Amino acid sequence: MLTPIQTFKERFGDVRFVLAPMAGITDTVFRLLMRKMGSQVVISELLSAEGLVRGGARTRSMMQFDERERPVGIQIFGSHISTMVEAAKIVQEEGADFVDINFGCPVKKVVCDGSGSAWLKTPSKMGELLSTLKSNLRIPLTIKVRTGWDDQNRNVKEVVKVAAQCGVSWVAIHGRTRAQGYSGLADWELIREVAISSPIPIIGNGDIITASQAKKRIEEGYSHAVMIGRGALKNPWIFQDILETERTSTYDLVQLIHEHFQLAIEKKDRDRAFLSLKKFMGWYAAGYPYSSAFRGSIFQTNDVDELRDLALEFFGKQGFQKPVDNGQPFLMGGHG
Ligand SMILES: Cc1cc2nc3c(=O)[nH]c(=O)nc-3n(C[C@H](O)[C@H](O)[C@H](O)COP(=O)(O)O)c2cc1C
Repeated sequence: MLTPIQTFKERFGDVRFVLAPMAGITDTVFRLLMRKMGSQVVISELLSAEGLVRGGARTRSMMQFDERERPVGIQIFGSHISTMVEAAKIVQEEGADFVDINFGCPVKKVVCDGSGSAWLKTPSKMGELLSTLKSNLRIPLTIKVRTGWDDQNRNVKEVVKVAAQCGVSWVAIHGRTRAQGYSGLADWELIREVAISSPIPIIGNGDIITASQAKKRIEEGYSHAVMIGRGALKNPWIFQDILETERTSTYDLVQLIHEHFQLAIEKKDRDRAFLSLKKFMGWYAAGYPYSSAFRGSIFQTNDVDELRDLALEFFGKQGFQKPVDNGQPFLMGGHG
C-alpha cells in the first residue's frame, strides 16, 4: 500500500478518498453533502482564470464555499501564466485551502485556447507555469491531468516529474488520454506504474463506481489516494460505504432528498436551486425501478416544491435499497 496524502494531516488527517471536481455538479451544495458523507477533500468545478481576474460576478460566485467544506480547493483553468497567477492569488485571498490546476479538460473550445489538457503537450511550459504559481502562493498547489494527449503521447510520467520538481503537492490522474475523451477504460496499470515511482502523492481516477473497487485500488497499491466522480452521483453513499468498516451504512433516500433541497435553497436562489435539483434527482434515480418514468415526470415540473413532492414520493417507495448499477454508460463527457 502506498502512503496516504498527508498535506492536511495536522488539521484534517490523512487523505485517501476524494470527490472528483465536476462542472455543474460539485458546487458548494454537493461538496457539503459529500464532505458529510466522507469525501476527505473537495474541489470546485473548473473556473476560468480570465473570468476571475476580470471580476465576473458569475465566476466569483462560483468560488464561494462553506467553512464546513474544508479542506476545499478551487480549480482554475487558463492559458496565460500571468492571468493564472493573478487568479490563483484571488483564490488564496478567498481563503481556499489549496489551488488546483485543470490540465485535463478535453473540451475543444478549452484546448484550442491552450488551456486544460493542451498543457500536456508542452511539459516545459507547464513547468514554467507551475514554478511561477508556486513562488506566488502560500497555500498548496495541486494539479489534475490526463495520461497524455493521445496514445502516442502518454507522457504522464514526465508531467509528474515536472510537477514534483516545481513543488506541487499531489497530482490527480484521470487514466485516459485527451484523445480518448470518456471512451474506453481508465488505464490503472499506468497510474500504478507512475504512482510507484512518483516522489509526490498520486490520486488515481477513473471508473470507480463501488466502495470495494475504491478500497481495492488503495489496498493493491495503485495510487496514494483515489478520486471518485460519476460513481458519487449514482451512489451518493459511496464515501460512507468506503469509510465504514462494518456494514452499517443506511441508504436513507428521503433524508438525503430533504438535506439536498434544504442546502440548495439555502445556498442558491429558488430558480437556480430548482434547475440544479432537477438534474440531481435524475442522477440519483439511476438504477432504481421506474427511474425513466420518474425522470419524465420531473422534467415537467416548474416549481421546487412540486419537484420535492415528486422526489419524496418516488424515493420514499424505494425504502433503504441501494441503487443497482446496471453498467449503463453514464455522463460520458466533462471537463477533465
Ligand atoms: C459532468 C462532468 C464534469 C466534469 N468537470 C470537471 C471539471 O470541472 N474539472 C476536472 O478536473 N474534471 C472534470 N471532470 C472529470 C472528472 O473529475 C473525472 O476525472 C472523470 O469523470 C473520471 O472519473 P469518474 O470515472 O470517477 O467519473 C468532469 C466529469 C464529468 C462527468
